[in-house]
Amino acid sequence: MTHPKILITRLIPDAGLALLRQHYPNFEVWTPDLPMSREELIQKSKGVDGLLCALTEKIDAELMDSIGPQLKVISSMSVGVDHIDIPAATQRKIAVGNTPGVLTDATADQAFALMLAAARRITEAERFLRVGKWQTWIPNLLLGADLAGATLGIIGFGRIGQAVAKRAQGFDMRIIYHSPNAQPAYNATKVDLDTLLKESDFISLHVPLKPETKRLVNADFLSKMKPNAILVNTTRGGVLDQTALYNALKSKQIFAAALDVTDPEPLPMDSPLLELENCLIVPHLGSATKKTRDKMAVLAVENLIAGVENKKLPNCVNLEIYL
Ligand code: DGY
Repeated sequence: MTHPKILITRLIPDAGLALLRQHYPNFEVWTPDLPMSREELIQKSKGVDGLLCALTEKIDAELMDSIGPQLKVISSMSVGVDHIDIPAATQRKIAVGNTPGVLTDATADQAFALMLAAARRITEAERFLRVGKWQTWIPNLLLGADLAGATLGIIGFGRIGQAVAKRAQGFDMRIIYHSPNAQPAYNATKVDLDTLLKESDFISLHVPLKPETKRLVNADFLSKMKPNAILVNTTRGGVLDQTALYNALKSKQIFAAALDVTDPEPLPMDSPLLELENCLIVPHLGSATKKTRDKMAVLAVENLIAGVENKKLPNCVNLEIYL
């Protein structure tokens, strides 16, 4: 084929750009920090053979059709692909690539960091100090929760869920999980969802966002949790009903929540969740380490190159297109 037309929708790490340059020196990359508007994306992507995107771009059937029938590959620098209409891509024989595996440890670390931070009220304590409230040592000041001996419930026992379990073993936690098809690992016991909600002191969410997991965490779910429980979400904001979470945190139905992801993103600054001391929120940083983002960029570029060269992607989400 002649030189493929490629658009990269975000400024990805140099490791990925350098690899692409070795193969195809001419490509377009959107460099501003803020993503393109929908109109800009439609405009700039017209006629491309390969699109490398991130979770900030909605890749739907309308966009695929506007790009044109030559589009061979949509490579996302993410493991989650809920921003891409996979059936629409499959129908059009467009390969969709993602970046699983390379971000497992970083995301599990983040889940664990959030779990510890919420348990020990780290951000709340820092706010306390910064406004000058630290006057002396107080026996009952900002008391938190122990991890040792506590029960950790993991919902979604795939790569990341298991990596969280592996870490929890070292913290002497009892580990239970709910995940229909996953085999036990790391001393974790498989239980049904109600048992997990009833017994867990910590719950960490690791299910992908799909129609069946949308708003999985709702008022009913929260009402079954223990009053001392801490909820951690590092997957997608859509898995959780934020109004129900606000009510549960405000009324102390549960102890705390720590969120790496929200719906929408960014979280509007007038979100009531931001008023709560027992809700820790960070801006979607699960995979945000230098090494991990480099690996994600390289893998996304490898998927892109394979796609424009009509080869099977190293990590393809819709393998049916090759049948
Ligand atoms: C993903 O890859 O899906 C994360 O949410 C961003 O790293």
